[in-house]
Amino acid sequence: MKAFTRRAALALGAALAIGLGLFPVDARAVGTPAASATPRAGIAAVAAPDRPSAEVARDVLRRGGNAVDAAIATAFALAVTYPEAGNLGGGGFLTLHIDGKQAFLDFRETAPAAATRDMYLDAAGKAVPDASLVGARAAGVPGTVAGLWAAHQRYGTVPWKALLAPAIRLAREGFVVDAQLAERIREQTAELAGRTNFAAHFGGVAAGQRWRQPELARTLERIAAQGSDGFYRGRTADLIVAEMRRGGGLVSAADLVGYQAAWREPLRFTWRGQEVVTAPPPSSGGIALAQLLGMREALAPAFTGLAHNSAGYVHLLAEMMKRVFADRAEYLGDPDFVSVPTTKLTDPAYIARRAAEVRALPSTLTTVRPGLEDSPQTTHFSIIDGAGGAVALTYTLNGGFGNGVVVTGAGFLLNNEMDDFSTRPGQPNLYGVVGGRANEIAPGKRMLSSMTPTLLLRDGRVVVSLGTPGGSTIFTGVFQTLLNMADFGMDPQAAVAASRMHHQLLPPDRIVYSQCCALAPETLAGLQALGYKVERSGWEFGDMMVIAVDAAGRLQTGADPRGRGVGLVFEAMPSGRRSGAR
Ligand code: DON
Repeated sequence: MKAFTRRAALALGAALAIGLGLFPVDARAVGTPAASATPRAGIAAVAAPDRPSAEVARDVLRRGGNAVDAAIATAFALAVTYPEAGNLGGGGFLTLHIDGKQAFLDFRETAPAAATRDMYLDAAGKAVPDASLVGARAAGVPGTVAGLWAAHQRYGTVPWKALLAPAIRLAREGFVVDAQLAERIREQTAELAGRTNFAAHFGGVAAGQRWRQPELARTLERIAAQGSDGFYRGRTADLIVAEMRRGGGLVSAADLVGYQAAWREPLRFTWRGQEVVTAPPPSSGGIALAQLLGMREALAPAFTGLAHNSAGYVHLLAEMMKRVFADRAEYLGDPDFVSVPTTKLTDPAYIARRAAEVRALPSTLTTVRPGLEDSPQTTHFSIIDGAGGAVALTYTLNGGFGNGVVVTGAGFLLNNEMDDFSTRPGQPNLYGVVGGRANEIAPGKRMLSSMTPTLLLRDGRVVVSLGTPGGSTIFTGVFQTLLNMADFGMDPQAAVAASRMHHQLLPPDRIVYSQCCALAPETLAGLQALGYKVERSGWEFGDMMVIAVDAAGRLQTGADPRGRGVGLVFEAMPSGRRSGAR
């Protein structure tokens, strides 16, 4: 990401302020609001990855829609304005709190029925470069439209068609293309030249110009008229299957008709008196977050007095992250296919034992190749409505612009989520993480994810909603953002802007930090002295979106300056469930 925005410069300023110790350690602020803090009724907020989508959410909430209504409209809008990751052809997760109850919706892609364990290996058993990343064969069966439809069936109060209307308008009338989007399209066009039909679809897009997508508008109109059938059956499905035939992809008409989103019990645990409600398998994110926050508590004495992003602090975080990634590679996969030991992995006694292993010096482990030097994308938004209902939604095509294939005649990109499977034991995926049997490819199976849309509740009310893209850096980023607010007194904007670090066990002893904002020189020197290789990340990880209730009950937003996101706080009608609105 070459564009260095004014807001990125502000982020750097914030990071420096933090490095200089201007944020007090252990202040009780956002993230640990006073027990008396009660969000004011009638005030709503959104933190979304671009302005058009944030405004769509605001308009739905102002008219009395609830957080789920707003999320549906926003997700469809992002499929138009944020083609890097906003999507119809991908999948994701939704964590929600409505009418005092929490739920989790899994609309992750699945492997097509014709998929096989070794489908990305050559005759010698070696991974074929890019086979799981570029082209029709990299696509899993899309889940997004089924997910948004399922969410609406259960929680929607505004008519489905009305929620599609803003996206249709943005596609038909166009929107003015942001410089960051134009640059990302330019980079991707060069990357995919001659390999997919990407350039034909995106060729005319230019910064500052209006971009209209009539084919996408028609696809959205079919979805508006027919619900999820407008995607999984009929014309849209035919166009997807035709694209698969042209490109040697595996997604069939039967795969599309058979796709089902799944309501799952969210992963829940307690952290400093708050209930954390987050993503269960097939995401690794919730288990990882539970382990990281739990180890942080178990290691409280070691953290005492450590400044934010100091060498000692980063070292402890890195040692905890190593353990999380070791468990992730071994145990995690689709719970409908493998038995995931979630209870054991999140047992406080087990976490305390893992914390006790955190040693003073980095451990030496066998090496794998470095992580990618590319610009992957996913996207996340958070919404809190005027009645305290809340949504955290992360969805994705996996890599930026997915597999680079636009469904001809339908105007949307397909995912390359198949790469999130372990294509071969020990084979690093796009994010450099490895896996084993638990995450091997099987027909109908969901590939392991790191997406971590998360809500924090205190006394039954949502006080934080957050999440981010970033592949394997997602849950380490969510973890650091929560600590930034809770331990260092940062408001949500400072918390998302601060530099983040990441360590994922392999390559051994390698710590990366945010591309936008370096760690302090003394931190780098201190980590090097401990034996770490510390590197600026080759890609900008994370586009963190946070809404948090401060100690006075006010909503505050944090929209990551690494992206083009926007946070809005505004008056909204306290939403209630309206029956018969569908
Ligand atoms: O599900 C996952 O974990 C990945 N497919 C997410 C991809 C992602 O976050 C890319 N963003 N930078």
